[in-house]
Amino acid sequence: MQEVENFKKYKLFESWAAASRELKPGAMLSKYCGLKKVLVLRISEGFFAMEDACPHKLVKLSKGELIDELEIECYWHKYRFNVKTGEECTGKNIRPVKTYSWSEEEDGIYLQIPEDATQDDPFSF
Ligand code: FES
Repeated sequence: MQEVENFKKYKLFESWAAASRELKPGAMLSKYCGLKKVLVLRISEGFFAMEDACPHKLVKLSKGELIDELEIECYWHKYRFNVKTGEECTGKNIRPVKTYSWSEEEDGIYLQIPEDATQDDPFSF
């Protein structure tokens, strides 16, 4: 039986044009979607979103640095995560950062956040 994941949608922008005005290329911002902290960033390929919590010690990734548009480097121990896949890029044995997808609706741009009851656990791989 295939497990169906439930999502909740959070409106972040009125339109892609509004998103582009708010977030310049190379910029990041931290938003709350319900109780989840989400890191939203813009690179030349578009807009991406991931949990705003490093899986190592749960510090905010939004305080880190965007490297070469592809990786976000955690400010504390310098682990790096791919902004598209959430995978750690330097070979550390740690679970990926959760990434989220967008949906464009008639009234705005939404992020789809899985409705999971579990808390972020840095020791779950
Ligand atoms: S807390 Fe992010 S790398 Fe350690």
